[in-house]
Amino acid sequence: MAVYFLSFLVCFALRAEAFALEPRLTWQESEISLTRFQVQDVYNYSTLLLSDDNNVLYIGAREVIFAVNSQNISEKKQEAYWKVTEVKNEECSRKGKSKQTECLNYIRVLQPFNESALFVCGTNAFQPVCDILELNSFKLAGKNEDGRGRCPFDPAQSYTSVMVDGDLYSGTSFTFLGSEPIICRNSQHLSYLRTEYAVPWLNEPRFVHADVIRAPENNPDGDDDKVYFFFTEVSVEYEFFNKLLIPRIARVCKSDQGGLRTLQKKWTTFLKARMICHSPENNLIFNVVNDVFILKLREPVIYGVFTSHLNNVGMSAVCSYSLSTVEDVFTKGKYMQSATVEQAHTKWVQFNGEIPKPRPGACINNEAKAMNYTSSLNLPDKTLQFVKDHPLMDDSVAPIGKRPKLVHQNVTYTQIVVDQVTALDGNTYDVMFISTDKGMLHKAVSHDMDMRIIEEIVLFPDHQAIQTLLLSDKQAKRYIYAGSSTEVVQTPVAFCEKLASCAECILTRDPYCAWHKGKNSCVNILAESNTDRLLIQSLNGDSSHCPGMFPEWVFGC
Ligand SMILES: *[C@@H]1O[C@H](CO)[C@@H](O)[C@H](O)[C@H]1NC(C)=O
Ligand SMILES: *[C@@H]1O[C@H](CO)[C@@H](O)[C@H](O)[C@H]1NC(C)=O
Ligand SMILES: *[C@@H]1O[C@H](CO)[C@@H](O)[C@H](O)[C@H]1NC(C)=O
Ligand SMILES: *[C@@H]1O[C@H](CO)[C@@H](O)[C@H](O)[C@H]1NC(C)=O
Ligand SMILES: *[C@@H]1O[C@H](CO)[C@@H](O)[C@H](O)[C@H]1NC(C)=O
Repeated sequence: MAVYFLSFLVCFALRAEAFALEPRLTWQESEISLTRFQVQDVYNYSTLLLSDDNNVLYIGAREVIFAVNSQNISEKKQEAYWKVTEVKNEECSRKGKSKQTECLNYIRVLQPFNESALFVCGTNAFQPVCDILELNSFKLAGKNEDGRGRCPFDPAQSYTSVMVDGDLYSGTSFTFLGSEPIICRNSQHLSYLRTEYAVPWLNEPRFVHADVIRAPENNPDGDDDKVYFFFTEVSVEYEFFNKLLIPRIARVCKSDQGGLRTLQKKWTTFLKARMICHSPENNLIFNVVNDVFILKLREPVIYGVFTSHLNNVGMSAVCSYSLSTVEDVFTKGKYMQSATVEQAHTKWVQFNGEIPKPRPGACINNEAKAMNYTSSLNLPDKTLQFVKDHPLMDDSVAPIGKRPKLVHQNVTYTQIVVDQVTALDGNTYDVMFISTDKGMLHKAVSHDMDMRIIEEIVLFPDHQAIQTLLLSDKQAKRYIYAGSSTEVVQTPVAFCEKLASCAECILTRDPYCAWHKGKNSCVNILAESNTDRLLIQSLNGDSSHCPGMFPEWVFGC
């Protein structure tokens, strides 16, 4: 009995330790006056695009696009209304959709097109359209191109897109009913490509993010630029009493041109794998990815925020992945294949047969070129047929450190952005900004292996869900922009100047903040030079170097 009790206690202590502590500091709305943007009768500020060169933030809301000053978003510069016609609105409502909400035009794609124009798409009363927004006049060109595959029909459906060299790569659904998921490329000079409409390729996905990773120049494999997609979908490989959701990473190669006969106008490089976000200490499995941010360093790092539909409702986690781990899975991992067991029941198992060459799903790299395959159009049928049937890898992508960076109870994390700061100790720190579905922003920094939430910022006092998060890190002053159903809010990355004493300044352990001995105030180090060595920063929270403090050794601890 006693032993049981003890082990229960130990276990409890361990479990408690595995969760992130509550933030040390919470900034309420009254303490920090954040800049907000909101226009009466305009809702769903869901798409944000930053143009750092001219200090503009573009905001896509319901039936309107705004340009605001990115240094002060409450300064509106321009606006372009893009309303559905009365006819379209009627037509949509006759199909059983709500006239006042669903049958409107929700801006879902805002991407740079060229120096003087943006590429924009909207749901347009369940008939998605795309257009060009001229930036000088801030008027739509009126192209009204068919937006299917680039923009969802339904404003409530998930979507993601990224513009790469003028081509739009998007993940969305292709039909009115939203039943046909698609990842496609729309290009002016490359061929249109899309995923096969088949369960093994995409199975009820909820898209969260897409981004490009450029291949290093003159890389030894002759590899290509790749576009990555992140989504949660219904698993085909696990049997479960009901639908089991699973987080995925998928990728395609930029110079894919589809196959000539097999996989004509389809991706020949579409491969996907499971992402693992699992806390081994307490056996928590996070199986829903809500957002991803890629820190594009020389060795890129993928940060994801996860929740769970399984045992641990009400908990969220952050897991990070190195791109090389991801690439190893795609370039060296095993594939899965479906096998029919009994009648009409398929089971997914590891493929152990001979893999055709060139390797299925690989970009046209040096290996393929050495075999005289210069384009996906002349790849052998065996390779193409194999990709068509085996888009799913058996190996999964494990997180850095084999566990989450952070697990937090009683929150639902929705979005993440990650900044990097070089602190006065010369080390570079990743600072994560993570939003919740209750209007909060958590700021977390990793010290050694230990990730802690150093601050919590109340962005929306009415607890609105944060739907979009954007980091501006190109300018001297760094900001985070957050969009919700009713407004956009702008916050600086740190509130150093609000910390009144040296001890408080040091105890926040914020890599942006240091105590300035000359000014006798807490300052943001990005705005100061430390040539006169007046700044004190100690990210382990040791405030003994503060003026008038005793060094720790005086007390012998
Ligand atoms: C931002 O712009 C608004 C509207 O022009 C103005 O009232 C406000 O003072 C500005 N805020 C700052 C910090 O400059
Ligand atoms: C940008 O694209 C638009 C629409 O195709 C075109 O009218 C405009 O001339 C282009 N601008 C530049 C700078 O290339
Ligand atoms: C590739 O093509 C070249 C030139 O046509 C030829 O000399 C070479 O033998 C070919 N290599 C293979 C592996 O087929
Ligand atoms: C969860 O958070 C809510 C507010 O965000 C709070 O009211 C509630 O007490 C918390 N529950 C637990 C178990 O911590
Ligand atoms: C749009 O905003 C309204 C008003 O806040 C909200 O009720 C609705 O859920 C939002 N719709 C979408 C698709 O985000």
